[in-house]
Amino acid sequence: MKNITESIHYIGVNDRTTHLFERLWTLRRGVSYNSYIIVDEKVAIVDTVESSCGTAYLRNIEKAAGGRPVDYLIVNHMEPDHSGLIAELRCRYPSMQIVGNAKTLQMINGYYGISDGLLEVTDGSMLPLGNETLTFYLAPMVHWPETMVTYGNNAKILFSGDAFGCFGALDGGVSDEELKFEDYYDEMVRYYACIVGKYGAPVQKALQKLSPLPIEIIASTHGPVWKHSIDKVIDVYDKLSRYSAQRGAVVAYGSMYGNTAALCEEIACKLREKGVEKIKIYDLSSADISEVLRDIFLYRGLVVASPTYNNELFPPVRELLTKVSERTVKGRLFAFAGSYTWASAALKRCNEVAEKNGWEVLPCSIEMKQSRLSLSDEQIETFAETFAKAL
Ligand code: FEO
Repeated sequence: MKNITESIHYIGVNDRTTHLFERLWTLRRGVSYNSYIIVDEKVAIVDTVESSCGTAYLRNIEKAAGGRPVDYLIVNHMEPDHSGLIAELRCRYPSMQIVGNAKTLQMINGYYGISDGLLEVTDGSMLPLGNETLTFYLAPMVHWPETMVTYGNNAKILFSGDAFGCFGALDGGVSDEELKFEDYYDEMVRYYACIVGKYGAPVQKALQKLSPLPIEIIASTHGPVWKHSIDKVIDVYDKLSRYSAQRGAVVAYGSMYGNTAALCEEIACKLREKGVEKIKIYDLSSADISEVLRDIFLYRGLVVASPTYNNELFPPVRELLTKVSERTVKGRLFAFAGSYTWASAALKRCNEVAEKNGWEVLPCSIEMKQSRLSLSDEQIETFAETFAKAL
């Protein structure tokens, strides 16, 4: 338990045990499930935490509320990493009203069988707690359809749900008074790319909707509470949701016997010679896909390399492209590098994906027949020259 303001307290928990977030995404530095309590004339909790963290969480509530009952539970988001303890809280505080919009309340019934003691709010509804008054703003698809954010008018605090969140447990502090934004930047981009990345347009809509609010504290559901880095975190989310990227290239390859891998190493060296400073190379058979996605969100250039396999893309390459396409990543400069032994298919498949996503396909793709012996040094040189120039 930590104070955010005199009457608003952090009651979230760190999870350093779960290996895969959503059973999909690696957690090397853990993750925090953030929850907050406002102790005013009324006592209100904003979001709960993942159910496995219940013991520590309930202890935090007891301590922060000082034995007072909880009057309201605000549910900004129903994904179970935040709604996991709704039923438990209702048992402990039977008179507690659960606050959500129509979609939230339907999900609360669907997930937890709770259909009474619910308070439905709409966009702009207000809830007075005493000194603090909460206003609710719907923010659908950031990250689920029921998502809303809650604004505390007195503290100028935005309880933002998943928005502005990041991976990484909180190392000895709660807010950026103690924790550095820079230490969480990579985990913020990786979180965005994996979890929220598909919803760029709704994030943009939410940013516009919230832009008139004077915000002095951002309290999201994952990662540090932001007080001093508000402009920075809004800028990160703004850029990522517009798919705006910086100069640099991701070279992501699949390689069965090393020929395509060697070609990619050669391409990367040439790109650097041509002045591309940020280059990230990934072998997709072993890479952490969340890191590849993170860097595809960060950098404008994308080289995908694949052998033709069963008249298709090499499976890990196909899997990456599916994930990138699902996230509707736009505005990338694309080129293919790869190989085949007797019949080419990978180049065609990759170009189809690139065109479908509206990427600019550069006229420099190269494909080896059987080995590097089929390509001239000049072809590699031209590839790198064309790609670097376009970046
Ligand atoms: Fe952290 Fe969409 O839940």
